[in-house]
Amino acid sequence: MSQQSRRIVVTSALPYANGPIHIGHMLEYIQTDIWVRFQKLRGHECIFVCADDAHGTPIMLRAQAEGVTPEVLIERMKIEHEADFADFVIEFDNYHSTHSDENRYYAELIYTRLRDAGHIRTQVISQAYDPKAEMFLPDRFIKGECPNCGSEDQYGDNCEVCGATYAPTELKNPISVVTGETPIEKDSEQYFFKLGDYEDMLKTWTRAGHIQKEIANKMDEWLNEGLKDWDISRNAPYWGFEIPDAPGKYFYVWLDAPIGYMASFKNWCDRNDHNFDDYWKVDSETELYHFIGKDIARFHTLFWPAMLHGAGFRKPSAVYCHGFLTVDGQKMSKSRGTFILARTYLDHLNPEYLRYYFAAKLGPGIDDIDLNLEDFSTRVNSDLVGKLVNIASRCAGFINKRFEGRLASSISDDSLSQQYIAAAEHIATAYENREYSRAMRDIMALADKVNQYIDEKQPWVAIKDETRHAEVLDVCTIGINCFRQLIILLKPVLPRLSAEAEKFLNVEPLLWADLENNLLDHPINRFKPLMTRIEKVFIDRMIEASKEDLVKEQNIRTHSNDPSIEPVDAEIAYHEFAKLDLRVARIIEAKRVEKSDKLLQLTLDIGNETRNVFAGISAAYDPEQLEGKLTVMVANLAPRKMRFGVSEGMVLAAGDADDELYVLIPDEGAKPGMRIR
Ligand code: 2FM
Ligand code: ZN
Repeated sequence: MSQQSRRIVVTSALPYANGPIHIGHMLEYIQTDIWVRFQKLRGHECIFVCADDAHGTPIMLRAQAEGVTPEVLIERMKIEHEADFADFVIEFDNYHSTHSDENRYYAELIYTRLRDAGHIRTQVISQAYDPKAEMFLPDRFIKGECPNCGSEDQYGDNCEVCGATYAPTELKNPISVVTGETPIEKDSEQYFFKLGDYEDMLKTWTRAGHIQKEIANKMDEWLNEGLKDWDISRNAPYWGFEIPDAPGKYFYVWLDAPIGYMASFKNWCDRNDHNFDDYWKVDSETELYHFIGKDIARFHTLFWPAMLHGAGFRKPSAVYCHGFLTVDGQKMSKSRGTFILARTYLDHLNPEYLRYYFAAKLGPGIDDIDLNLEDFSTRVNSDLVGKLVNIASRCAGFINKRFEGRLASSISDDSLSQQYIAAAEHIATAYENREYSRAMRDIMALADKVNQYIDEKQPWVAIKDETRHAEVLDVCTIGINCFRQLIILLKPVLPRLSAEAEKFLNVEPLLWADLENNLLDHPINRFKPLMTRIEKVFIDRMIEASKEDLVKEQNIRTHSNDPSIEPVDAEIAYHEFAKLDLRVARIIEAKRVEKSDKLLQLTLDIGNETRNVFAGISAAYDPEQLEGKLTVMVANLAPRKMRFGVSEGMVLAAGDADDELYVLIPDEGAKPGMRIR
């Protein structure tokens, strides 16, 4: 390790605060976490920062649908996201939010520096507007017929049937996803970042080794077309930061999202006594790496370097893109149960299985990665349980039972250990270059070697012969030392298993440099199985549970109009339907909810108890129309904490729009409390 210690900042993309983390996201966090842990293991300073991406229209609308403020929603999401990451053993040095003081500060600073240097201009443009919701509509919130092939129900930016891209104004028979109204065109003044001012800089930068070849080629297409100015503003109502000196205009979420990297790092610096400017000044000697998915390359390899350059900050050392995750060769699918939430995975399987499997598949390129569920269990069982853990379990028993748990004070042959040391440099290079699949292959080849060695020496035969006990101790000491070296090599991928192995070996946390020395005349602890096999039934249960997640999400989807949440295409089984406890309820009181134009507060009598329910029917009913009526409610919906109180169920109503809703009423004779069957 002659290399000097480096100072490195690393980021993963900031997840949106409008939904849960799934295993597709997790591919990136695992890829980054492995890289960061590797750098730390090598003795470098490596700071891994991330944050929730907490602004934008989908978050605003979802909060409205849930009857909570955006602040409440993003706070809850951040807690959920952080728990998912922690349980996947992703170790951020800091996890922050783009809705933070630091981010406001840097967003304003960067904007004003760009503006003062003449890189911002304004222009009146015409955009789609929903007159009923009184808001401008992002492209994804408009649907209509594709102008190219005529397919119905296509988004405002591209057609999923024929692949055409177009402006939302070109859609035929467009409707607003928010209200179902026909959008109109409305003029407003917008703020543009003059990206074209940075064309020469970007042409050089994108070809100077900071981005992968495939991405540079893609960016060439944009660069050669000529860079268009980028609209960085949005009109109120918008959930984000208001632009200084432009009341009613907000920074577009993609302006302040990457600045969130800086904000999170600043927050870390303040708490850890580091100097922010050392890392972000032009010509800083520190390194800065962004790990992202290939779909957001343009923001990170054109807009972001231009913003940094224009505002007098350093640019990234590199932006590393990865491909998408497929499951069993296909796009993750909610109906097949392969749209797997991080939490659902964790409920059924050990996170380190997936960390290892992703490592075994990941290369430095942008190809998609397939999680083949059969290959997943075969690979994990054979490599981790069958090869790695087996080494320790084969040797530990003899040492614990026959040699008082103490390793030999010398070994007869250190050729295996020398081979490991020789291989380690190639493995380090593979980690550094994000060629994890190669690293895993090389490590498993080393594991094969020591297993073969133990097979040849047959300590289980030798132990029967008193005169050969020294030989058994020798073989097992060699085996345990090889195991220890393998643990060091795999530590970036398997941090939890490594920590357990360190306890078993009775050693301090291992570093890469510890590869070079052997553990001799040293007491070890009793061996406990470090990992168990994946059984098919665990995977089956996870897939079933993922299908159930769909039902929960559909509930949110129908209330939030969020087009980023995929439509549901699943049938449900009878037993799933049977879980619903539907009851006849009498509305004994109905009243308006202050500060909400959607909700009515209902007191419902369901026979043996009364329930408080907030129902989004205020546009369709006056409270007095409802009092005394019978209706149908979902009585076993988990209570939901809202800004106004706790809602203890849901009333059923039919209708396609908020002001055209019809509360379901049972036929004459029905009584409060009766079950719907
Ligand atoms: O695509 C996304 O999920 C974005 N939330 C990523 C933002 S990365 C960075 F720029 F903040
Ligand atoms: Zn089309």
